[in-house]
Amino acid sequence: MYCCMLRSFHIKGNKLIQLTRASFSQNPQSWDTSLKLSSCTVYRCTHSPVSGSLWQPLTHRTQQPAASHRCMSSTARRRRLPSAFPVIDGAFQPSHRHVYEANLRNSLICQQKYLEHKEKVMKGGGENAIARHTQRNRKVLVRDRLRLLLDDEDYLELSPFAGLGLPYGDIPAAGCLTGIGKINGLWCMFCANDATVKGGTAYPITVKKQLRAQVVAMQNRLPFVYLVDSGGAFLPLQSEIFPDKNHGGRTFYNEAVMSAMKIPQVSVVCGSCTAGGAYVPTMSEESVIVHRIGTIFLGGPPLVKAATGEEVSPEDLGGARLHSEYAVSIVFLGKSTEALAGSWARSSGGAIRADGLSGSGRTNGLGGGVRADQGNMLEEDTPAERPLYSTDDLMGLACHNHSMDVRLIVSRLTDGSRFQEFKARYGTTLLTGFARIEGHQIGIVANNGELTYEASLKGSHFVQLCDQRDIPLIFLQNTAPEPAHTLSQTKAESNTNRLKAQGSMMSAVACASVPKITVVIGGCHGGDSYAMCGRAFDPNFLFLWPNARVSILAPGHSEAFVQTEEEITQINEMLEEESSAFFSTGRLWDDGVILPQDTRKVLSKCLKIIKQQEYQLSREKMRTPFLRM
Ligand code: COA
Repeated sequence: MYCCMLRSFHIKGNKLIQLTRASFSQNPQSWDTSLKLSSCTVYRCTHSPVSGSLWQPLTHRTQQPAASHRCMSSTARRRRLPSAFPVIDGAFQPSHRHVYEANLRNSLICQQKYLEHKEKVMKGGGENAIARHTQRNRKVLVRDRLRLLLDDEDYLELSPFAGLGLPYGDIPAAGCLTGIGKINGLWCMFCANDATVKGGTAYPITVKKQLRAQVVAMQNRLPFVYLVDSGGAFLPLQSEIFPDKNHGGRTFYNEAVMSAMKIPQVSVVCGSCTAGGAYVPTMSEESVIVHRIGTIFLGGPPLVKAATGEEVSPEDLGGARLHSEYAVSIVFLGKSTEALAGSWARSSGGAIRADGLSGSGRTNGLGGGVRADQGNMLEEDTPAERPLYSTDDLMGLACHNHSMDVRLIVSRLTDGSRFQEFKARYGTTLLTGFARIEGHQIGIVANNGELTYEASLKGSHFVQLCDQRDIPLIFLQNTAPEPAHTLSQTKAESNTNRLKAQGSMMSAVACASVPKITVVIGGCHGGDSYAMCGRAFDPNFLFLWPNARVSILAPGHSEAFVQTEEEITQINEMLEEESSAFFSTGRLWDDGVILPQDTRKVLSKCLKIIKQQEYQLSREKMRTPFLRM
């Protein structure tokens, strides 16, 4: 078997950072784990959701031994000094025990639902489709393709439950996997069709997912790899896929714009690329086709037969050989397997300039436009303190009906449970302050009650401060379930002021040019949610905890808006169903549901991904798109 590669252009002017495993070994992970806390008493709840051993006696953590200092550079040693931020008290009050336990019961139910969704998604299009894909069509399953492409399985999958519970049925993973993984040490976005789901055809939700992946890639300037295996549009729903601005054509528009932004894009044609599916590799800067398996054509053999009566094989109509004969700059790789195609994609950085690098100095992989001179800063070289409290506790802090002080959550997310609170005594229903997650400095904005006038003013001030100092913002969103009512003159006045202050905060959030990540840890309701960087405010990433509720007002709060008992029941039932985190994520209103105990890991990954673009060249420049000849 052979692989042929269609390459027609070399990206110029880009520089590539190659992070070698050698550079990791100079920075062993043990440094992270050996990071020590200054001597302090730790108020630590030893509860685990599994063992349930809550309210154990307090423990004490001691100072680290100094032995590991011997193998560190002075720079690293300087970095390892504990943060100056104070440790916050994350201990539970015994009087809150019943709230914690109620939350925990709810979280365990939500976790079960999460695991059921995961299982459903892992089965793709089901047993028959998998057999057809692997045996009849001799293709590799989509998750195995990712294993061939990525350095490891430690990737951030986006919206894995998108497509579940839609009016037109369950579409596992929306028919395509998207996420961010490392290729040769560099974070890259991938979009991989799952042909076991109706031949990889594009449903409306598939299109939405692809477009979201492209937006994330643009916002975070991530090289993009498409693993294409798609029968094009899912025809019965063509009116929801074809005509509008954010329908199928937008994918190809984005490919051109991304190219102009100097975001490298490559395609691996692992199966059929019919009609709309054909434009993805065509618009990519480079493509490779797996011989005798990959095809690219606008209409397949059945269409040719219907139109002309001619019988033609897929290979003759648009196989690797045909494209190698008619396309420009063909390179045969010698053998053709998906493994080889994957390794081609990994090394397609041959087309990306490798010179001018200092530091690691080697470039044989994707990653154009990324500066090398500060190369090793891209990786986990900043050792971090762990939180003093177990992240498992977050299951009991994920609010169901009642919230606990959000400081308890913050103390389980930040390095060393440290947090430098900003304006602690003003606007106390919003917690703002500085912290670090895995060494990345961040500003935290977290709801701790209603978003009042004072809280909104404080929020605006803090967001602008972070913007001024280039500090990424993390929003922990848990907005109030019902809007403020106007019952008196005084109340009307205070509501007007609050509205104005919230408007200011919305402007500050919308215009802050720093990266923003939102995690909905409870409610996402009404106007408050905009000021807390909801989806419409374009955070780089937005995740939900499984207990999260997303609706204009929360279930049980519709009495003021509808009259009869029947209407109230109807609306509340609707809100109950539609506000669930799984309903939201099925429709791709977020980047996925994450378990509370995984939040620190996910945030840390996002911060690393975001940081990568700091080392890119010419971030602001818009140039002519790459033109495919
Ligand atoms: N719209 C709706 N359903 C489609 C479809 C399309 N464009 N293409 C394939 N399907 C469905 C098939 O009906 C089949 O459904 P089933 O599982 O319920 O029987 C399923 O997808 C798999 O198709 P099948 O042909 O059995 O699988 P395959 O892996 O051998 O081939 C394709 C997949 C995509 C290569 C092949 O189905 C094909 O060429 N389809 C037509 C593509 C096309 O002309 N697209 C134009 C869109 S504008």
